[in-house]
Amino acid sequence: MCGIVGYIGTREKKSLLLHGLKELEYRGYDSAGLAVLEQEELHVFRATGKLKNLEHACKDFVSEGFGVAIGHTRWATHGKPTEINAHPHTATFSSVIHNGIIENYQEIKQNLMDKNVVFCSQTDTEVIVHLFEENLKETSHTLEAFKKTIHSLKGAYAILLITQEAPKGIYYAKQGSPLVIGQGPDGIYFSSSDAPLIGYATHVCYLEDGAIGFMDNDSFSSLSDIKTLNSNRLYAQKEGFRYFMEKEIYEQHKVLLETMMGRMDEEEVYFEEINDDFFTDIQRITICACGTSYHAALSASYLFERIAKIKCNVAIASEWRYKEPIVEHDELFIVVSQSGETADTLEALKNIKTQGLKTLAICNVDNSSIVREADTTLLTRAGIEKGVASTKAFATQMMVLWMLALYIGQKKETISKEESKKERAIMLRAIEAAKVLPQTHEKIRRLSKRYLHGHGFFFIGRDIFYPLALEGALKLKEISYLHAEGYPSGDMKHGPIALADSNLFTIALMPRNLLYDKVKSNVEELAARDATICAISSLELEVADDIIILKEHSSYMEEFFEMMVVLQLFALEVSIRLGNDVDMPRNLAKSVTVE
Ligand code: F6R
Repeated sequence: MCGIVGYIGTREKKSLLLHGLKELEYRGYDSAGLAVLEQEELHVFRATGKLKNLEHACKDFVSEGFGVAIGHTRWATHGKPTEINAHPHTATFSSVIHNGIIENYQEIKQNLMDKNVVFCSQTDTEVIVHLFEENLKETSHTLEAFKKTIHSLKGAYAILLITQEAPKGIYYAKQGSPLVIGQGPDGIYFSSSDAPLIGYATHVCYLEDGAIGFMDNDSFSSLSDIKTLNSNRLYAQKEGFRYFMEKEIYEQHKVLLETMMGRMDEEEVYFEEINDDFFTDIQRITICACGTSYHAALSASYLFERIAKIKCNVAIASEWRYKEPIVEHDELFIVVSQSGETADTLEALKNIKTQGLKTLAICNVDNSSIVREADTTLLTRAGIEKGVASTKAFATQMMVLWMLALYIGQKKETISKEESKKERAIMLRAIEAAKVLPQTHEKIRRLSKRYLHGHGFFFIGRDIFYPLALEGALKLKEISYLHAEGYPSGDMKHGPIALADSNLFTIALMPRNLLYDKVKSNVEELAARDATICAISSLELEVADDIIILKEHSSYMEEFFEMMVVLQLFALEVSIRLGNDVDMPRNLAKSVTVE
């Protein structure tokens, strides 16, 4: 995810910004840049790749005396990770950096181009600085021009803008993306997280959505809710959570909004990345992936068939490669990968390309090997995932795949406008359902102490809740090292039920909106064999030993996203009680680049 830093004061600005950006490296980025405004001159430097490239690009520059400065690490969402697309974006006398997504940038860009404004990059961000300078033609009041600019934007943003028209300070705005302003003995600091401010600022203000203004050396005290800065760096990176995995579980509802942003309006789901005729000849889909990404793919196959009415086959990448699969010319090959570097998935993709199929990657890392190989990519926009056990990557993969099912349904007219509208409303509610409820987390924390022994776990569910059960079992085994398997609940009687006794823990996924009674019968069969039952449902269940109560949702996809969070928290809390290293479980790597 992108990182922002800014500074107002007399310290040497280049090294200060580079230091701040280094503190944000853990968030992941693919290009970086900085701009310094001092003695009325604007100096801008940008580079692709690591920060050492930026350091090299500005090695002969040293800033002296009072000035203002902004710096940025970019995680590509609109436009490739090139130097031209790196921030800051500069118009004639102003520079801007931005985190988030401007949903209506194309409309703004077109209006500006009609006024002969020339754009250099493919980014959504560049419109901000041009619009600001354009607005300044109508008023001499810079703050007014800035506010007018911000009020034209739709989407999520944390924005810093510097301009030769007001060289004593920095314009800022926040909506949906984090932004912190700090004050220290040597000046004013800005950042997208408090880690870069440690050692520099003593007091901070975490801006609220809607914040917009101009900050100079004298204005910090006018901010409300100023706090003393906690000086533990790792604590700051984890934003107060005990583990990165926990932080990533908690931020899922926020990143899901980013996944969706600029891809949906009142009328439809749309993807700028996909050509209009991309699906014209496509009659079937194969999705190929590994691990958690495979579970997202398998879940999505239910949605593709149900919503888009398109045949969907799902394959584990390591199996696909040597199967000599028969493919059809009207088949689309989709690969799903968080890292974009998974060897099995990459090789399956390369292999299928030799057979001439159309390919589409759903990936979290732009410019990764899989993205470079595929014909088209939909980025999941989860931001860097540090916990080895995948959480927010899964959530965002699910959302992209669900949106894609709807998109194909629209294109193929297998879904009516009315149904499509309903589905989009459910998507927004599903994001809300992915928000961690403190009382649910606390319940799971307390309950986890009863699930530390036994000879194994069965995670059971039906329909789309079967792949979610697989994912719940995978999460648990990855970080607790306990034996856990996912099964379709209807299949228990065909063998696995032989294992049932009081030391078998069954985690039953029981959505009220999808096949509840069918799953209930399967759970009762297990309970009759004395299995210990932990149900996840919004309905009470007499035979359950424990129940994690969900909210009363009106659709099964809301239940899916809430249950996903419950399963992740369950694995987390069991693992913590067992004293394991949650973020770096034994034997596992974040990116599996070997076969
Ligand atoms: C599970 C997990 C792995 C990955 C798998 C594929 O928590 O992280 O199962 O999902 O190794 O990785 P990507 O998605 O990077 O291709």
